[in-house]
Amino acid sequence: MNLVERPRRLRRTETIRALVRETRLSPDDFVYPLFVCEGEGVRREIASMPGAFNLSIDELVKEVEAARRVGVRSVILFGVPGEKDAVGSEAYAEDGITQRAIRAVKRELKDVLVIADNCLCEYTDHGHCGVIEDGEVLNDPTLNLLARTAVSQAQSGADIIAPSNMMDGFVIAIREALDESGFEHIPIMSYAVKYASGFYGPFREAAGSTPQFGDRRGYQMDPANSREAMREAELDYEQGADMLMVKPALPYLDIIRAVRERFDLPIAAYQVSGEYAMIKAAGRLGWIDEERVALETLTSIKRAGSDIILTYFARELAQRLT
Ligand code: PBG
Repeated sequence: MNLVERPRRLRRTETIRALVRETRLSPDDFVYPLFVCEGEGVRREIASMPGAFNLSIDELVKEVEAARRVGVRSVILFGVPGEKDAVGSEAYAEDGITQRAIRAVKRELKDVLVIADNCLCEYTDHGHCGVIEDGEVLNDPTLNLLARTAVSQAQSGADIIAPSNMMDGFVIAIREALDESGFEHIPIMSYAVKYASGFYGPFREAAGSTPQFGDRRGYQMDPANSREAMREAELDYEQGADMLMVKPALPYLDIIRAVRERFDLPIAAYQVSGEYAMIKAAGRLGWIDEERVALETLTSIKRAGSDIILTYFARELAQRLT
């Protein structure tokens, strides 16, 4: 036998595998999503997301500090307000939970990048991402509220605004509002391609944001569509998005790859709550090696073309990577 090609030559030891490895994960790739709630000393584990918590502001600061110590320098904050109403007033209140949380984190940890998720669903009593009239989520009236929210987040010290509610025109609406208020230096990380996904289930438990009627298919994307994803990304690009996100991540690696090939902006992918919950659950049952599977999924997401990964594993796995 005279085999010329023997790929196994480059797999014989961990040292040589490390030498030829094409994709490497680093804590610098990670954004750590955190849920902030009212109260003091609150660290309430989310039942369907072991290892993730509703944190009061004091506990949030501790969690961000701990993540920072293992090399995670970016967080994205989701507010869980005490009061909800039809128009999500707490989302843009000067002393809203998110605004106070941003100020506290930036005060204590100046070099940590704070990304503010920009949506209304955690703040509305009906759980939809916008203003409702006759059972419909209205687009343009919602844009004004998102813009207001973005400005108040920037005023509180947010480094990046991440609009996630899939209203048409949300990037340009937020861009204009930020610019008018002197925040032309604040980037927008757009949830450009966001699917109507069953994988958001645990998040809705964490944020108490399950829609009280209907679902989000009237604004989030149909999982069956990929050309439409290009159109969504293109629109956000034209409106001035600085980064484009695909969400969820693992079931949509083809979309991450396609967006990567078409656009030169940094690409982010969100490994969402349901992706996290599945790995945690199977790990707990002893059916898979949780850490190994988690690292494998994150590597796949990066290999597909994502520069930035939002993941609930950020803190836990950063330790393993350094
Ligand atoms: C909307 C928002 C959602 C997530 C992030 N931003 C929920 C939704 O669209 O229902 C989900 C993230 C996750 O599941 O981890 N504000």
